Amino acid sequence: AYPNLAPRPPMGWNNWSYYTCDVNEKVVLDNARALARNGLADRGYDTVTIDDCWMAKQRGPQGELVADPAKFPHGMAYIGRELHRLGLRFGIYEDVGTLTCGKYPGSYGHFEQDARQFAGWGVDYLKADGCNVPRPAGRTKEQSYRDVYEQQSRALLATGRPITFSVSAPAYFQYDGDSVWHQVIEWSAKLGNLWRGGRDIALEQQSAATKWSSILYNFRYNAKLNGLQRPGRWNDPDFLLVGDSGLSRHEMQSQMSLWAMMAAPLISSTNLAELSPEAREVLGNRAIIAVDQDSLGRQGEVVAQNDGFTVMSKRLRNGDRAVALFNSGDTPRTLSTTAEAVGLPASSSYWMRDLVTGRGRHSDGKIAARVPAHGTVLYRITARS
Ligand code: DGJ
Repeated sequence: AYPNLAPRPPMGWNNWSYYTCDVNEKVVLDNARALARNGLADRGYDTVTIDDCWMAKQRGPQGELVADPAKFPHGMAYIGRELHRLGLRFGIYEDVGTLTCGKYPGSYGHFEQDARQFAGWGVDYLKADGCNVPRPAGRTKEQSYRDVYEQQSRALLATGRPITFSVSAPAYFQYDGDSVWHQVIEWSAKLGNLWRGGRDIALEQQSAATKWSSILYNFRYNAKLNGLQRPGRWNDPDFLLVGDSGLSRHEMQSQMSLWAMMAAPLISSTNLAELSPEAREVLGNRAIIAVDQDSLGRQGEVVAQNDGFTVMSKRLRNGDRAVALFNSGDTPRTLSTTAEAVGLPASSSYWMRDLVTGRGRHSDGKIAARVPAHGTVLYRITARS
């Protein structure tokens, strides 16, 4: 299996949802400096990933990848050095097919050369997308994907540099409606450290309503993958849209809380240089980050759910449970569960801390809160002996 290079869910920033192909040196370094300056890097957001469209349309004379000289005038080794100087890790995007989704050169047929090139640039994290994967005669789609992701995984390993490996394969099988996606996740978990599932999260230029429904879709999709992940091998339901995205404070808080409950990678995609104080607070919440990064590495389980709400429980290393009361409906409602239902040991007294307000209170086992529309109340609960 690929080495466990992500004992905790990866955290960081990626340009895609906010900037799509309008990525360049200034965008990357401005956001990197913002991470270092606003304290989010210290809270764990340490990997800055450049997504699709960073390349020139053609490889160089030796078959090497070339950064687009207009977008990245100082080249990629320079970006690596600047990020490392800021104490950050360098993430880059490629594709295991013949072309990336944006039609730039893919690594197909060049896996070892490209991996060596990335290692030489100081790359610490690779997101390997799965557009334009050829299907050789006699191979199923699933086998074809497996073949190329295996080659990619081996090529990264052969560089000798520890490069966290993000596999996109499962995102290309979810609609098949059969059991193949399950196999794809199983081999993704052997070949890499995290893998994308669900749909692409909405882009900045889409409406706030579309953003919210894409968060909801990926949450519900990913919540079902509970049990397929383990420490070092994570389900990735895509970017955090917390930021200048038109989402309400409650919606931002919900995405952050639900992603933490699922032990999801926390990868912000927004303009961090103009992050509102409100969004900064949501992203930087220490107690919620601690739930995400808890060393037990469990994904939360759905305890109760219907169209209008979800109650989730996540077991934590010290025996506590994180409990999320998520109101997906359009009007406020009271949501409730019990200590027993969320898996806490029997006790006559529990201590419940609201991780957004920081306020604690005693409970005899009833867990209830008034939850605003699209909001989430997140508790960390300890059974007292
Ligand atoms: C599809 C991926 O799912 C997105 O996150 C992004 O990387 C685009 N491809 C880039 O073309």
